Amino acid sequence: MIQTEKLPPDAAGIERAAALLRAGGLVSFPTETVYGLGADATNDEAVARIFAVKGRPSFNPLIVHLPGLEAVDTYARLEGDALRLADIFWPGPLTLVLPRREGSALSPLVSAGLPSVAVRVPDHPLAQRLLAQAGRPVAAPSANPSGRISSSEAAHVLAGLGGQIDAVVDGGPCGVGLESTIIGFAPEPTLLRPGGLPVEVIEAALGQPLAAHQPGAAVNAPGQLTSHYAPAAPLRLDATDVRPGERLLGFGPVRGAALNLSPAGDLVEAAANLFHHLHALDAEGAGPIAVSPVPMTGLGRAINDRLKRAAAPRP
Ligand code: TXA
Ligand code: MG
Repeated sequence: MIQTEKLPPDAAGIERAAALLRAGGLVSFPTETVYGLGADATNDEAVARIFAVKGRPSFNPLIVHLPGLEAVDTYARLEGDALRLADIFWPGPLTLVLPRREGSALSPLVSAGLPSVAVRVPDHPLAQRLLAQAGRPVAAPSANPSGRISSSEAAHVLAGLGGQIDAVVDGGPCGVGLESTIIGFAPEPTLLRPGGLPVEVIEAALGQPLAAHQPGAAVNAPGQLTSHYAPAAPLRLDATDVRPGERLLGFGPVRGAALNLSPAGDLVEAAANLFHHLHALDAEGAGPIAVSPVPMTGLGRAINDRLKRAAAPRP
């Protein structure tokens, strides 16, 4: 348990919250939709902690929050219909799934290893000030334990996550109280999740109807992800030995690992390293990758979920 600071919605509170975020802390903050559970989106370990405290059984991709449209370009490509919607509706309860820029500073865990990233500019004065002062992109899912309802007040956040996060900025109840609407563009504008911005308003702005998301298509929102990062190399899970030609992705104090998710057996560290290490091993050659067993506790469930998907037979 840690002491969760309840920060006032004033300059001192925002300054403290921004400092905690920059230092890799988890800070819940109000947006116009619901309270977010924020972490520095460029800090692998901080992003991994989001999944740990939410108790998420898999690494759903997260929304990256930015203070304005101009800040997006560093991380993602905002063009065409996406740019038109951003121009009209940001700041506001609209999330756009965009192509991620190669080599961006964002943690791969933020978008669960996908080549896309969900971005939004929230319309809440405290969120705006916090994002500007933090000077970092902030990854934030709704601030509730996995499978429970979202928090629209600081008291809900404390009831669900108090003692596990560093702070909550108390900005009173959220105006919209419902998560943002999520739109994807692969290839045409598609509704991925209905939310705080009505579909009709978006369709009127586009001058065309939104495509309906097909279950089983590339990505489902929210949550269930059918597309996922799979390395070109085959994966063998729960490996307790290394066979000829294999490279070992270790966990815990194992010998002969090419890379180790966490030599100390720390699941938060392992989650933070997962996509980096898979990419690195993949880039290095096509030989099979053996993976040490990872326990099914805490973040281990999410790590095993991703590993299982990465190891699944390819179409
Ligand atoms: O209003 C909101 O959107 C709130 C506030 C805090 O901003 N956030 C929120 O985040 O609802 P969360 O984690 O509960 O929902 C994010 C959803 C994921 O479940 C996923 O479906 C979708 O966004 N998502 C994120 N990245 C994606 C991607 N690259 N491709 C497709 N869907 C994505
Ligand atoms: Mg949620």
